[in-house]
Amino acid sequence: MKRILTGLQPSGELTLGSLIGSISQMVKYQDEYDSFIFVPDMHAITIKQDPKLLKERIRKNVALYLACGVDPSKNTIYIQSENLYHANLSWVLECNTYMGEASRMTQYKDKAKKQVNATVGLFTYPILMASDIILYDADYVPVGIDQKQHVELARDIAERFNKTYGDTFKIPSPMIPEVGAKIMDLQEPTKKMSKSADSYKGIILLLDDEKTIRKKIMGAVTDSEGKVYYDACNKPGISNLLTIYSSLKNIKINEAEEYFKDYNYGNLKKEVADVVVEKLLDIQTKYNELINGSELDKILDRGREVTNRIAKEKVEEVFSKVGLGRY
Ligand code: AMP
Ligand code: TRP
Repeated sequence: MKRILTGLQPSGELTLGSLIGSISQMVKYQDEYDSFIFVPDMHAITIKQDPKLLKERIRKNVALYLACGVDPSKNTIYIQSENLYHANLSWVLECNTYMGEASRMTQYKDKAKKQVNATVGLFTYPILMASDIILYDADYVPVGIDQKQHVELARDIAERFNKTYGDTFKIPSPMIPEVGAKIMDLQEPTKKMSKSADSYKGIILLLDDEKTIRKKIMGAVTDSEGKVYYDACNKPGISNLLTIYSSLKNIKINEAEEYFKDYNYGNLKKEVADVVVEKLLDIQTKYNELINGSELDKILDRGREVTNRIAKEKVEEVFSKVGLGRY
């Protein structure tokens, strides 16, 4: 079975967009791949974080992924900082990466521009990401297009290491999901529903309560035509509601169009709200059990144990090949 590995940034709150666009893909992959999922909390601190919030978010996001259907018996789930080998390997990789290569990372350039004082960690972060990946001989790395360059850097570093020190790492490939449903902001339906937006008015958070969900959907921006059909260019608001409905119901857009063709906008919104509420309340019930129970820690403990075992072996092999210590 091929191995996939992916990291979930513990930044921001998870939204209906994250569920439909990303978490549902992971749920699909878990049956086809040996799947490693981790929280890259050490990446998060490349930019200042509130320590208390960061700690809470790590647990919260893991619990939400599980509540959304990520199955702990089919995935190895762990926290990056609970495995000291990631940073150890990263150091060796840094010493095998050129300044020129690291300086070409476009995400660094974008992020650094936004900081008054960009940190060295922000600069070297793609090398830590390479370490996260090649430490476990991952075959594929499911990431958004913005991360493709980082996975390519991981390939280059792994190839160079293998050439210099002998075959050690598997060469990973990025796995860019086919363009799935893109969920738009309910207030500005030409913009992606994003957890980092300035206002939550057009954004449904996975932990929003029923009243809030209904209010946001009933207040979604539409158009003045009054007819329900899909046309992302001219009717982005209505099209977005149809996308949400069809994604949650697991039906095609044209089936949703057909179903709603005689509805007015108010009734359409009400029925979309019903489906979203049903789905999210179910997720929230599971979330509440997880966040208050001991299961979550057991899952993370198991992930820590399994990944430390694999990583220890790999890092000792690397140290030995590079000539460090008495390995
Ligand atoms: P982000 O939360 O923006 O870092 O994105 C993480 C992953 O979730 C990416 O693979 C995105 O494609 C997916 N995602 C986030 N927001 C949406 C959205 N509104 N619609 C579809 N996919 C999304
Ligand atoms: N850099 C990724 C992001 O910003 C998160 C990440 C860190 C990651 N390490 C990883 C993703 C390894 C895939 C594999 O979303």
